[in-house]
Amino acid sequence: MTSAYDVLVRKALFASGGGDPEAAHHRTIRILEQAGETPRRRAVLARIPRPAAPTTVFGITFPNPVGLAAGMDKDAVAIPAWGALGFGFVEVGTVTWHPQPGNPQPRLFRLVESEAILNRMGFNNRGAEAMAARLAALGPAPVPVGISLGKSKITPVADATEDYLNSLKLLLPYADYVAVNVSSPNTPGLRSLQDKGALDELLGALRGYTVSVAGPGGPVPLLVKIAPDLTDEAIAEVIEVCAARGVAGLIATNTTISRDGLRPSDLARAGEAGGLSGRPLHALAVRTVAFVTREAGNDLPVIGVGGILEPDDARRMFDAGARLVQLYTGFVYRGPGLVRRIVRNTRG
Ligand SMILES: Cc1cc2nc3c(=O)[nH]c(=O)nc-3n(C[C@H](O)[C@H](O)[C@H](O)COP(=O)(O)O)c2cc1C
Repeated sequence: MTSAYDVLVRKALFASGGGDPEAAHHRTIRILEQAGETPRRRAVLARIPRPAAPTTVFGITFPNPVGLAAGMDKDAVAIPAWGALGFGFVEVGTVTWHPQPGNPQPRLFRLVESEAILNRMGFNNRGAEAMAARLAALGPAPVPVGISLGKSKITPVADATEDYLNSLKLLLPYADYVAVNVSSPNTPGLRSLQDKGALDELLGALRGYTVSVAGPGGPVPLLVKIAPDLTDEAIAEVIEVCAARGVAGLIATNTTISRDGLRPSDLARAGEAGGLSGRPLHALAVRTVAFVTREAGNDLPVIGVGGILEPDDARRMFDAGARLVQLYTGFVYRGPGLVRRIVRNTRG
């Protein structure tokens, strides 16, 4: 059950910004950023007990297996607060080498009846340099931090490798893992980087760098985030390339370009460009996780993400083979209480 507190918080947040979802989002992030702004506030946040269900994956020990998905904290401004809200890890970004404004607004829509979000944000972010400065100022994070890298819009797809590599070189010192995002539907051409040849070139270069600067603990793990819209054959190719290039795991999935599963009242939005997340994505994401697990076995542990709105949804992801899970839309609709409910359910 969602708590009365979470219902109230959701009501207040949804209403803030005059009901505009993006304004409400920025307001929430600003509040969370302020909560962790000074060393004293951070010390208070660090004392709030995180729900515990420790698990080790990719050589990283996570206090619990429920993470914040990429896209919520694009500029890594609120890491201490995410830890205090109970998350066992945080994936910040997607960050690009060049700072960029993203697509014109409106670009974020709540499809409330469907418990979904449609977005075409287009990697709005302050760029890799700003994120590196932010992470340096923040010091040690309370939970493991993944950094999601994407391609700058102004960089042609043919030059994507250098663009990702520039960001990687700057941000690697702050990352417990690096997520290579080649699956957002909102940057033209990005998803073509999931194709065998392009992916092989990209991962070869990124892995080459992580290996070349590895400390005694070994290279920082690289993960690849995939779309739910790939065919089984395409996923099998991604797995093959990832295994050959020493990738540590997969994140499945990003948002879908499908519009299946929308409630009638939300169909008016079906024509909007962008990626769909939340309830309508869940079955597709679980299916993708199950397929990857079956194909790759223990070689590529999976972070399952897509439409987790209740502990049972997380259970379904774990049953499909996911070792960790992440939330975005479920956090928006259910609030932070969902993290604790999933952790409790996972332990029990
Ligand atoms: C508004 C919004 C922005 C997102 N931005 C990113 C992003 O920058 N990078 C990324 O890898 N995924 C991004 N995602 C996808 C989420 O990380 C996640 O894969 C997807 O929403 C499915 O999970 P969910 O159903 O729990 O939301 C975004 C999702 C939303 C709703």
